[in-house]
Amino acid sequence: MRVPAAAIHFPEEDREEILRRIDECLKSGQLTLGAIGKELEAEFAAAHQVPHAVAVSSGTSALEIPLRVLEARQGEVLVQANSFFATAAAVLSSGARLRFVDCDPATMSLDPAALEAAIGPETVGVVTVHIGGYIPPSIRDIQRICAANDLWLVEDAAHAHGSAYDNQLAGTFGAAGSFSFYPTKVIAGGEGGMITTTDDRIASEALIYRDQGKASFDNNDHTRLGYNWRMSEPHAAITLAQLRRLDEFVAHRRMIAARYDELLADSPLRPLVVPDESFCNYYKYIAFLPEGVDRRALKQRLREDFQVALSGEVYETPLHRQSVFADHADEHLPGAEELCARHVCLPVSAVMTEEQAELVVESVHAALAG
Ligand SMILES: Cc1ncc(COP(=O)(O)O)c(C=O)c1O
Repeated sequence: MRVPAAAIHFPEEDREEILRRIDECLKSGQLTLGAIGKELEAEFAAAHQVPHAVAVSSGTSALEIPLRVLEARQGEVLVQANSFFATAAAVLSSGARLRFVDCDPATMSLDPAALEAAIGPETVGVVTVHIGGYIPPSIRDIQRICAANDLWLVEDAAHAHGSAYDNQLAGTFGAAGSFSFYPTKVIAGGEGGMITTTDDRIASEALIYRDQGKASFDNNDHTRLGYNWRMSEPHAAITLAQLRRLDEFVAHRRMIAARYDELLADSPLRPLVVPDESFCNYYKYIAFLPEGVDRRALKQRLREDFQVALSGEVYETPLHRQSVFADHADEHLPGAEELCARHVCLPVSAVMTEEQAELVVESVHAALAG
């Protein structure tokens, strides 16, 4: 591929530092819940300007743990239909009932009017997702609606490391924020996740839940229905090295996105509009196809004729159309359906060059014209 869909980036000095740290944990025998995990939590909390960050095994567990602490199982949780499977699955695994809400295709976030209309007597909370790393101005409406209806808000910030709205960072808008370090994410840890919160109780309960519900590391009293949601020390070492590159990675992604914006100024492909007050990490660079274009055929042509791989959509199929959620299949969620059907994600990474961005846009234009 002349332009791959994505690329992870571990500079040589980071690889050396990671290996040195892993060697230290192999020598000490402290392979989980150790000093590196604590260092990662402290640096993540500082970078996200929150008092607490709790490292866990995945972005999925970073969602499920706060949902359990918030006792989501008491009722119904509202989730936007345009998200990854794990957003909805974590709600169900926490014991709550799930209700899908439509999104506004222009913001890719919960449609505030649809959110308000979906609130019922059983609703206890809302999960919002910063799709592609974009936090739109409507986050303020979502916060206001939650506060007015006595609902908690959890942010699925799996895409949004370092993103902000009005200088407020992802992970700080609700009761808790959930981040993922899956290899495709802005920072990669292999596997792993992080919970951010300003709430002392959520933080202390999260420590219990992640370690099999044990009240403390050195006793055997299990006080909560927890699970093995721990992060290992080698994963913490990898993630810490990546976290220290977060600003640099986001700056590079934003540079590529700015180049795409220029190149697409008069294009039939319409980029997502990101207002100045939203600081987007460009986990994805999202653009909308002209009507009638077959996305699969376009992507295939780009791969085969131009050696350009577009990255995966966010998402191709809305959640209520997934087989596993078949009992929601009749729901009318036109915003999510339109968004999922019509967008593409141009490749972005921390190592991509401006020349590659130019090649992507030239290729897309040629493929659309052909
Ligand atoms: C929006 C969203 N939520 C949750 C997750 C789950 O994260 P993980 O794969 O680390 O469990 C992902 C990522 O894969 C995601 O993209």
